[in-house]
Amino acid sequence: MTLRACLTGVGGYLPSRILTNAELAERIDTSDEWIRERTGIAQRHIADAGETAASMGAAAARAALDWAKVAASEVDAVIVATATPDNPFPSVAVRIMGELGITHGFGFDVSAACSGFVFALATAESFIRSRHARRVLVIGTEVYSRILDWNDRTTCVLFGDGAGAVLLEAEDGEARGILSTHLHSDGRFGDILYVSPHGEEQPAVLRMQGREVFRHAVVKLAEAVDEALAANGLKAEDVRWLVPHQANLRIIDGMARKLGLPQERVVVTVDRHANTSAASIPLALNEAVRDGRIRTGDLVLMEALGGGLTWGSALLRM
Ligand code: COA
Repeated sequence: MTLRACLTGVGGYLPSRILTNAELAERIDTSDEWIRERTGIAQRHIADAGETAASMGAAAARAALDWAKVAASEVDAVIVATATPDNPFPSVAVRIMGELGITHGFGFDVSAACSGFVFALATAESFIRSRHARRVLVIGTEVYSRILDWNDRTTCVLFGDGAGAVLLEAEDGEARGILSTHLHSDGRFGDILYVSPHGEEQPAVLRMQGREVFRHAVVKLAEAVDEALAANGLKAEDVRWLVPHQANLRIIDGMARKLGLPQERVVVTVDRHANTSAASIPLALNEAVRDGRIRTGDLVLMEALGGGLTWGSALLRM
């Protein structure tokens, strides 16, 4: 019988401090109007000094376990997607295991920038399908506020902090679960979106050629979506919910148009969260599952593109 990785829990965490576009416009040469028009972003959450990738990720993970009614001791693996770990090692995953009191199984971090959650989800699904783990926490957690150049108006207005988590559980049968994942990377485009290499800038900061990234996102995300549907013999109209990486509302709208999906079937958080990188998809899933929009049986399509370049898609039957 087929073994599937089913999503049974969702959780999220956002720092309480909200930074509005208007506040940013007091510090740098930008405006609420420009940011909303070009990106759809109105505000972002910013971690305080005591909040870290691990502390926020642990809070999101606890919420996901509560939702699934699963004890931390029943979790076999923790996979964290992050580009902003608290320190090079121990990994954020192992720190979260420590915070949750998980003392068996294993944990590690995945580095794929804004695509990180899709890469981590694919990794977790592989462990479940190969029977290495029955219950896996997949967490995206980011503190981009600490790698931004707050004087660079072309990047600092775009990102925010937060964490999202899902619990995947092994289930026999084909009724639900992750149907497929498709991952891609192309190192030729490493210099259009990166965090400065060791020693080049102190502290290291994010640098981006926004227009170039935009151009790649539109093409590559469309391909990743087509690939996901074709691999499953599905059509765009079969998709109930698009839960995209939340980088820019114009990219999200473009993908919805391509799929012929009305706005009501696209989960959007970029207006309130900005781009939380690897945390953006699980935060959006958390919101739409908890408010009752995404329900059992719904087909959910996820897609993301990030630094690397890395990009990919995942199809999930709830
Ligand atoms: N406020 C006001 N003006 C700004 C600005 C800001 N925050 N940031 C840039 N500008 C200016 C630019 O300097 C430029 O001015 P110029 O024409 O005098 O040179 C003008 O606005 C247009 O800049 P441009 O970069 O062409 O704008 P854009 O329409 O491409 O929007 C992004 C910029 C970054 C919003 C857009 O390219 C984008 O979203 N790219 C993808 C980013 C992304 O998804 N990154 C993460 C991937 S995970």
